[in-house]
Amino acid sequence: MLDFNEHNLTDAVVDRFGNCDQPRLKQIVQALTRHVHAFVKEVELTQDEWVAAIDFLTKTGQMCDDRRQEFILLSDVFGVSMLVDAINHRMPEGTTETTVLGPFYLGEHHLTSNGATLVAEDEGTPIYVEGSIHSPDGAPIADAVIDMWHTDAEGFYDAQKPELQGAPKMRAQFKSDNQGRFWFKSIVPSSYPIPNDGPVGKLLDATKRHYMRPAHIHFHVSAPGYETLVTHVFIDGDPWLMSDAVFGVKKSLIAPLVHSSAPQYPDNTPAPKSWELLRYDFGLKPIQHA
Ligand code: BEZ
Ligand code: FE
Repeated sequence: MLDFNEHNLTDAVVDRFGNCDQPRLKQIVQALTRHVHAFVKEVELTQDEWVAAIDFLTKTGQMCDDRRQEFILLSDVFGVSMLVDAINHRMPEGTTETTVLGPFYLGEHHLTSNGATLVAEDEGTPIYVEGSIHSPDGAPIADAVIDMWHTDAEGFYDAQKPELQGAPKMRAQFKSDNQGRFWFKSIVPSSYPIPNDGPVGKLLDATKRHYMRPAHIHFHVSAPGYETLVTHVFIDGDPWLMSDAVFGVKKSLIAPLVHSSAPQYPDNTPAPKSWELLRYDFGLKPIQHA
């Protein structure tokens, strides 16, 4: 066929993918063709805008290396990461909702004893975090592996601080005890801007969007027989909760800080003059076998 035009080109491209013998790949490339063509037609994309889009995607790729993933950030700010997460984690009653993994997960952390202190308490407001891991019916899960990480009081992850030379800080792995419990001491994390020195930051600037994520602690929880849970616990009262730059907040994941001036933490170790308690119980979804 010749003489492709704005009226017949979409069907011609969809048709050209018609010989694909992988049904899922065929479905994806044909749907992608229809949607991209519909977008170009809806906005009547100009030649200059097309060049700008190619330049933007080129710069996005050039920004990526093994420590920085600008394409994931792009997916995050368009809400695509959370959409994929939502479609793939329709969680049953009794389980914890999921949210984005984010770029600061560095794989499995060092196994640390419950009760450990993850950063000097004078580097921020001391916090005691405790919780439990359970199945949807509330039964405790022992030996669940809990990786967690959070920012310091200035909003930086350890991975963003070259002076630490890779040493973990505010990042550890715990195992739940025989009652499914875990606990640790750290400092209250701060809200922080997502990386904004690349093309995604420029896009947010141009569209008058802010970069901020509300304060949270990341949790990555796994146990045999259960789906791995990737989530955060957000700190209630944070001013950015309602406008998270990556759309990751869910009401069920917000927990309050409870102020305390008790001389001992709940694990009977000495506490500073005042500290905050954060508690969260996580429900895991059993793996369903077909
Ligand atoms: C994070 O929570 O670490 C994060 C998530 C998405 C983009 C940037 C950071
Ligand atoms: Fe984070």
